[in-house]
Amino acid sequence: MILPKIPSSEITPKSSYLNRRDFIKSTGLLAGSMLLSACGISSTSQTNPGAPTSNPSISLKTDELGSPVNKLEEIAGYNNFYEFSTDKESVAKLASGFSTNPWLVEVFGKVNNPGTYSVDDLEKRFKPEERIMRLRCVEAWSMVIPWVGFSLADLLSVVEPTSDAAYVRFETLYDPEVFPGQFDRRYPWPYQEGLRIDEAMHPLTTLATGLYGGELPAQNGGGIRLVVPWKYGFKSIKSITRIELVDYQPSTLWSSIAPNEYGFFANVNPEVDHPRWSQSTERRIGGFERIPTLPFNGYADQVDSLYQGMDLQKNY
Ligand code: MTE
Repeated sequence: MILPKIPSSEITPKSSYLNRRDFIKSTGLLAGSMLLSACGISSTSQTNPGAPTSNPSISLKTDELGSPVNKLEEIAGYNNFYEFSTDKESVAKLASGFSTNPWLVEVFGKVNNPGTYSVDDLEKRFKPEERIMRLRCVEAWSMVIPWVGFSLADLLSVVEPTSDAAYVRFETLYDPEVFPGQFDRRYPWPYQEGLRIDEAMHPLTTLATGLYGGELPAQNGGGIRLVVPWKYGFKSIKSITRIELVDYQPSTLWSSIAPNEYGFFANVNPEVDHPRWSQSTERRIGGFERIPTLPFNGYADQVDSLYQGMDLQKNY
């Protein structure tokens, strides 16, 4: 992406999740109440910033299309996080001193019950589960990631959006002292993103607080990030501190810099090329060959009803 030279499984399907859980129960392996413990993965508490626990057994896991999950080193070592750097391989090192515990997120705007929640609090309330989902970056690379998270809809149901809440606006922490990239005035910080309320309420729309059974590394968006697996990765905003329910379509960092390249919807669509490159194929990190990009990143069955009657060539 870079751009400014001048200012300018998926969710493991519920059925297989339940089946696996039943299977594990029946074989007497389910120790705790969460699938995470059933898989022998360590708990998701945020007590060990920057040091996700690696569990070799998880590398046997695949998404629902049979693709193996990426290695932890790949997921936590190749990152887009412009607040730290535009160099993907430098982000992890630069993020190593960034403390994500405790982490607070404020939910406000057009809601009946505004509130500020700690990530610990959210984890206690909403019981994060493992969600293996594909992340397809607009730059045409992808990964399969075993997130730990819960549906944004769970949090929204607690704050109760009012009837005029049409969109959700998300904001990353603004603090140039910890995010040196925010001294670069060519980007309109803080990073902002948005979803239409029905997209936000979709069960695949995830707030992730962990990765690979451990906590969410800072470079992947700890304390808490959004994951919207059927959209290009830039919609999946990291290190969120503010969630606002609004009655207008919010501005987003990338669409304000280059509206002809990065639309508000940003649904993965192999038929709409980026003006500077094709979107018909992608490179799965860890390999070299190009694989076909799927409409809605392979989640069409679950999400295309959200876009009935919309021209997806225009609403890119
Ligand atoms: N969120 C913030 N705050 N800053 C960013 O630079 N980059 C986005 C998205 N969320 C970004 C962000 C892009 S372009 C992608 S592809 C994903 O994060 C990458 O997530 P990952 O590093 O965990 O793979």
